[in-house]
Amino acid sequence: MSVSIQFDRVVKRYGSATIIPPLSLTVKDGEFFTLLGPSGCGKTTLLRMVAGFNTIEEGVIAFDGKPVNDMPPAQRNIGMVFQNYAVFPHMNVRRNVAFGLHNRRLQRDEIDRRVDEIMETVHITEYASRMPDRLSGGQQQRVALARAIVIHPNVLLMDEPLSNLDAKLRLEMRNVIRDIQHSLGITTIYVTHDQEEAMAVSDRIAVMEQGVIQQVGTPKRLYQRPVNRFVAGFIGRSNLLNARLEGGSLVFHGTRAFPYPNALPAAADQSVIVSVRPEEFIVSKDGGGLSGKVINSIFLGLNTTYFVKLDSGETVETVEESTIDSIIPQGTPVKLGLKIDKLNVFTADGKASLTRGIGEVAEDA
Ligand SMILES: Nc1ncnc2c1ncn2[C@@H]1O[C@H](COP(=O)(O)OP(=O)(O)OP(=O)(O)O)[C@@H](O)[C@H]1O
Ligand SMILES: [Mg+2]
Repeated sequence: MSVSIQFDRVVKRYGSATIIPPLSLTVKDGEFFTLLGPSGCGKTTLLRMVAGFNTIEEGVIAFDGKPVNDMPPAQRNIGMVFQNYAVFPHMNVRRNVAFGLHNRRLQRDEIDRRVDEIMETVHITEYASRMPDRLSGGQQQRVALARAIVIHPNVLLMDEPLSNLDAKLRLEMRNVIRDIQHSLGITTIYVTHDQEEAMAVSDRIAVMEQGVIQQVGTPKRLYQRPVNRFVAGFIGRSNLLNARLEGGSLVFHGTRAFPYPNALPAAADQSVIVSVRPEEFIVSKDGGGLSGKVINSIFLGLNTTYFVKLDSGETVETVEESTIDSIIPQGTPVKLGLKIDKLNVFTADGKASLTRGIGEVAEDA
């Protein structure tokens, strides 16, 4: 059985330092939920509060509405996977996986049955009698995952579980984790500072900065409609251009006006920051748009990235599907059109969006 998790004005302090100011959030039953943010923003701290390893200074964490603040970690029925796997080096794979079940004093044949089943699920049956030092990183990580889920936890917590693996294994293991979570439907909170990994595995993501959740939403939502400059810069790549919003148009350095129908109706004329993703430019030699010069290009197979220095002096990154003919040579004057619908416009301080369709609330379902 899995549970929903409620955070109601939860606060974490170490001495006089407030690491997490009042934070409210609901993780749905069966959801794959990710905490994403830069190093030191409080992801591990929050995860450990759910597990019961950290005290909660104010507010309530509840499972299915029942507060767990005072419940000891062992009674919370949580499975945990950490960055460093933490498999026991002196036990073979089978005994590692069975560990949590022995602790729960289950019958011998029940333990065997469950261990066999989980080892099948994560594909480690063939290593059952091996010692951990004879397993690869990915195999050890599977053992750690099996050990966490064999106890049939209500909640699965994972803290940067893939960061010790090489790039190829990371990709493979994130699919394994995603598939297993899906098939078992265990409510999962996953911690990472890798935005691509977060996008690949999560139902929803909370983007955190300095203990404060900036936005909660689906990967698609966060990418397409970030609530502020921080989220726009943290999820995916963004070019941030200075402009003015004037009479419903975006004016770049006084030269070029683009009608911007997505502006909030109440938005006054003001200086703004326009976030343009590399694929939201249309590069051409003689079309319309912002003027600039190609200063560098990188051929990436499917796509070619161009760095373009605008007449304003700002340098932007663009990406175009590679053509069979040629790459635009360095020094070529180009025009950059804009995919107006996709752009996001923020106040000059970057703290708020002026683009329609985001709404007042930072959370979407
Ligand atoms: N036991 C502690 N005592 C005092 N401060 C702490 C303690 N543990 C963590 N902190 C502080 O709390 C803040 C959040 O730390 P936390 O480990 O939660 O960050 P994180 O988001 O997990 O970062 P990373 O991505 O580097 O793992 C940091 O500023 C850290 O220095
Ligand atoms: Mg951490």
